[in-house]
This record gives sequence, C-alpha cells and structure tokens, in this order.
Amino acid sequence: MHFSKIATVLAHALFVVPLTQAATWPNGPFHTSGRWILNNAGANVTYAGVNWPGAADTMIPEGLQYQSIATIVSKIKSLGMNVIRLTFAIEMIDDILDNGGDVLLKNAFTKVLGTTNGATVYNAVLKYNPQFNSTTTRLQVFDAIAAECFNQQIYVHLDNHMSRAEWCCSETDGNAWFGDTYFDIVKWKRGLQYMVRHGASWGSLMSVGMRNELRNPTSNSALSSKSYGWKDWYTNMVAAAATINTANPNVLIFFSGLNYDTDLSPIPTASSLGGGEAFRIANFAYQDKIVLELHNYQTSVTSCSSLESGLYQAGFDALSTTNSSIQNVIPVVMTEWGHSQDMTAYQSVYATCLHSYLPSQHAGWIVWVIAGSYYIRSGTQDYDETWGLLSHDWSTWRYSNGINNGLKPMIAATVSG
Ligand SMILES: *[C@@H]1O[C@H](CO)[C@@H](O)[C@H](O)[C@H]1NC(C)=O
Ligand SMILES: *[C@@H]1O[C@H](CO)[C@@H](O)[C@H](O)[C@H]1NC(C)=O
Ligand SMILES: *[C@@H]1O[C@H](CO)[C@@H](O)[C@H](O)[C@H]1NC(C)=O
Repeated sequence: MHFSKIATVLAHALFVVPLTQAATWPNGPFHTSGRWILNNAGANVTYAGVNWPGAADTMIPEGLQYQSIATIVSKIKSLGMNVIRLTFAIEMIDDILDNGGDVLLKNAFTKVLGTTNGATVYNAVLKYNPQFNSTTTRLQVFDAIAAECFNQQIYVHLDNHMSRAEWCCSETDGNAWFGDTYFDIVKWKRGLQYMVRHGASWGSLMSVGMRNELRNPTSNSALSSKSYGWKDWYTNMVAAAATINTANPNVLIFFSGLNYDTDLSPIPTASSLGGGEAFRIANFAYQDKIVLELHNYQTSVTSCSSLESGLYQAGFDALSTTNSSIQNVIPVVMTEWGHSQDMTAYQSVYATCLHSYLPSQHAGWIVWVIAGSYYIRSGTQDYDETWGLLSHDWSTWRYSNGINNGLKPMIAATVSG
C-alpha cells in the first residue's frame, strides 16, 4: 500500500470509528467472560439483530426473488443491527455429502414450487442477484449472504433450524427431538460440523446455534417417554458442542433449551439433569465459548413483571452475578421473539416489555423475522409474513412507525451497552 493511501485510510478511519475497530472488524473470535460476550479487543458485544430464514423447503435463504442480498443487508444495517441469525436445514448437508452434491438453485426452486412457478422465481432471483447463474448452488447463496454481511459489518450467527427442510415447528413434524423420524443424531452433528468448517472462511461467522426449538416428539410416544428430558438433552448437546469446537474452535456455541427453547431452568443453578449429570460451565474445556439461547412468544401476556420473572426463572438468571443460587454465569441471548408488524402489537405489554427488559439486562436478542414473505410456507407459495419487518416484496418496512419508535430505540439501547 502506498503511503498516501495509508494516510487517507487513517484520516478516514479517525473520523468514522476508532482505528482499531475499523481496521480489524469483526475483532473475532469472540469469547465469553462470565455473563458477557467479548470481542478479541476485550470489548462487550451485545447482539441486536434479525432472523433470516433459509431452512424451509427450498433450503435457499428467503426473499431473493424480490431484492438483492446487498439491499436486504443494507436495510438490516440501516436499523443499527449488528447480527443476522441465518437458519439452515441439515438436509442440505445430507444432499451435499450423501445425495450427489448440493442442488442447483434452479432445480431447488422447480422441485419445490413446480416447473412453472419454480422457473419464475428462479429467474426473478437472477434478475435481482445477477452474480448468480445456472451453476449456483444453495450453499453458494449462504456464502454470498455471509460475504455481504462481512462487507457491511454484520455478524453471522448460523442456526440449525430443522433436519428435514420445512416450516418449523411442531411436536409432530418428525424434527422435534434427538432420534425423531427425521432427526438423525449422527447426521445432525455432521451437518453442524460441516457448516462451521465451511463458514470459517466467511470472516463474518461468529457463532452457531446447535438446534432450534427442541420439543416433545408427541407423535413418537416411545421416544417421548424414553428420551425427552434433560438427561438426553445434556448427552446430545454436549457431544454436538464438542464436535463443533473441534471443527471450528473460534465460534461461540449456543445451547437452546426444552419446550420450544423456552426452558433452560436447571442450567444456571446447576440442578440435577438426571443420570447423575448437572451442567457445570467450569467442566468444559471450551467454557468461554458457551452461550445460552431462549425464545419467547408470550404475545398476549398482560403483566410485564410476570413476563420478566418468567424469563428470569427460565434461564435469564444465568446473567445474574449477585445471586448465590446461580452456579453458571453465562451470557443469554433471546434468539427469537416477535409479533405482528402493526400498531396494536407494538403497543402490547409483550412488545413494550421486551423493548425495555432486554436492553436493561444487557442481553442480546434477535427478532423474528426480516422476511416479508416466504418462497413457500406450509404448502402456500409466496406466503405473506405478517410478522415480517419488511413488506411482502421486501422493499420497505411493513410498519415503519413501529420500526422507528419501537425497534430502533431498542437496537440503539442494546448496542450502546
Ligand atoms: C460491559 O458492559 C458493562 C455494562 O455497561 C460494564 O459494566 C462492563 O465493564 C463492560 N465490560 C467491558 C469489558 O467493557
Ligand atoms: C456463477 O455463480 C457462481 C456462484 O454464485 C460464481 O462463483 C461463478 O463465478 C459464476 N459464474 C459466472 C460465469 O459468472
Ligand atoms: C436467585 O435465583 C434463583 C434461581 O433462579 C431464584 O429462585 C431466586 O429467586 C433468586 N434470588 C433472587 C434474590 O433473585
């Protein structure tokens, strides 16, 4: 680099952001210290972001028939958010490793949407995203999103959402629990291993969620009674975490809980999990890579204090440094919450409570969902997502008043520490 160029870069950097940050974003890898997530420069990082689904039937991240990846990431950036939770299905990795390789975009769309609609959507994706072509595969779309996130300084949190790709979740969808009809434990760990290795070159990948919304496999009563509970949770989650840490020692590993990830209650207190096990953070060789994640969708709650105390008991107590019952002080991130994008929902106890509670706890969060629509959801093509931050064609905010007066202040309060 020429000296004059360095001088220009320096001058630029000094005016915009501190030089160390500008020069080395994302300042990875991240690690934890007690209840904080820290970057490699020792500063707190608190996630404030949005879910971007890519685990449904096509296994292609949503919205690209309406906007370019760069446009969508710019919209996320414009809110001041710092992370996306990018969901994927294990079935994509099974295809890559067992079924002849990753599927071309065109084939993925026509297989799921039919010949006519699939071709229409595929052509629209290429129109808005001309860097793609007839040789582009699904995983290359993930690569392109991660690259654009790197360009715009948005962290990527990968989330294994499903084994068999489709809209999530129910207790009877065969994806509910370890060993359920489509939830092959070996393939699950292999898929996680593949994705964290693959994502190591992205630069933007900072963390991974091992499994979205574990739940009671009620249609599989033998599995439900034999296995659903904390003992098998511990065995499987710890094994997967070890696999991830070996495959990519840099990423933070998010542990989700039971009952659709609404319950991690025995973890902070190191309570018995059955089978003589208890979760003790100090026993993990990679203890500074472990984060807890919870979801909450109590959208009709009528008392903020009861919502807060429920969250505390469910696992947010892991953030407490002053409660002697808390044996495991660990960061907690609410990786899903959300509501319809309208005035009533923004004014609800649920929304207003979380808008203040999560920043007040210095807790990270990721809202559901950026998608204004899905390629297909539960059999309906071009499904309108009334909870989407974006409008149906992903062009504008669905309810800009809520975005500006509800979400943006929450983002600012979160990322400012
Ligand atoms: C992280 O933020 C908290 C709350 O603002 C603060 O007390 C703590 O010192 C910060 N840690 C670092 C390393 O900046
Ligand atoms: C086709 O797309 C792939 C992945 O998106 C890219 O790597 C490749 O360079 C593109 N090929 C051409 C000829 O543009
Ligand atoms: C300490 O944590 C335990 C477990 O969550 C909880 O039951 C108790 O109420 C907490 N104590 C205080 C003073 O918050």
